[in-house]
Amino acid sequence: MQQKLLDLKNDFLNKLENTTSPEQVEVLKKEFLGKWGKLQDILKGIKDLSVEEKKVVGPLANELKNEIEQKAEEKTLLLEEAKFEQQVEDEQIDVTLQFPSKKKGHKHPISITSELLEDIFISLGFKVEDGPQIEDEQHNFDKLNIPDNHPARDVWDTFWITDKINDTKASGKKQLLRTHTSPIQVRTMLKWDLPIKIIVPGRVFRYEQEDARHTCNFYQLEGLVVWEWVTFGDLKWTLDTVMKRLLGEKTELRFRPSIFPFTEPSAEVDVSCQICNGTGKVKGKKCSMCSGTGWVELLGAGMVHPKVLKESGVDLEKYSGFAFGMGIDRIAAQRFNVSSSRMFYQSRLKLNEQF
Ligand code: DAH
Repeated sequence: MQQKLLDLKNDFLNKLENTTSPEQVEVLKKEFLGKWGKLQDILKGIKDLSVEEKKVVGPLANELKNEIEQKAEEKTLLLEEAKFEQQVEDEQIDVTLQFPSKKKGHKHPISITSELLEDIFISLGFKVEDGPQIEDEQHNFDKLNIPDNHPARDVWDTFWITDKINDTKASGKKQLLRTHTSPIQVRTMLKWDLPIKIIVPGRVFRYEQEDARHTCNFYQLEGLVVWEWVTFGDLKWTLDTVMKRLLGEKTELRFRPSIFPFTEPSAEVDVSCQICNGTGKVKGKKCSMCSGTGWVELLGAGMVHPKVLKESGVDLEKYSGFAFGMGIDRIAAQRFNVSSSRMFYQSRLKLNEQF
């Protein structure tokens, strides 16, 4: 029996040597020490032994059991360690590895300009508002004191969404791509409590013959202040401060009398041309940005017309307002010295990537 135990031990050690995973060791342990295992098999014969022999074989079998358990545990630990090391090896990250650098995108010059303007206006206490690009006739025209058949509609004729543009029954509900950001003046006054101090940057659309200064789709920034007794002087100070901060202290503004149905009095505001420094000439040739005049028209402005305030539920006894609408594209062209704002829409990567 002693010999059998010795053979069993060698058999176990041999097989243990060949195990490659903790799971295999567990199976092997069961094969030798389990209830129906090989050791039990041998021990079945113990009852036929003499007392003397039993005294020797008993402890020997116990010793063997302990040894098998210990060796199995040692091997399991060893295999687990090896497995962990392999895992560390496999999951290693080489932080020195160089990847080909990816070309990053960047903001469009019009977005850059819009954000600069927003920052300046926010610093002056303005809030940023938004509104729909598909607008209804009421907000785009009627509520801004541009009723049906008003000649000003021609100037802002645009892309109608509905095909029933001559249907009088649908009056006011007809939809169009907004021609300016001014409708948001009305929307905001109807929505918010007074006083109001907002800007509205956004995209607008015109049925337009394209040239250096005109495109059929462009960006405007609307401004509206409705407060107790604001004046034209407040409007002038605001625009002067903003343009000087954006384009530089030397920038000059010129106010020309004008007519807009939604403001009274109204003005068009020009800025001294940054391309030719107000001289009207670039390298001896007529500056194409300002057509040689030294001035670039940037915006329309004025005191909000009482009819518009009334339409929007404002108490005329207490409040007055000023408003303005500027072309962001033109301001971008001025700021970045680009001779035609149309270039911003022509996917000229070489141009846009410079800013
Ligand atoms: N909405 C006008 C346009 O698109 C610009 C404008 C003029 C806006 C005068 C105003 C304003 O708020 O007061 O041409």
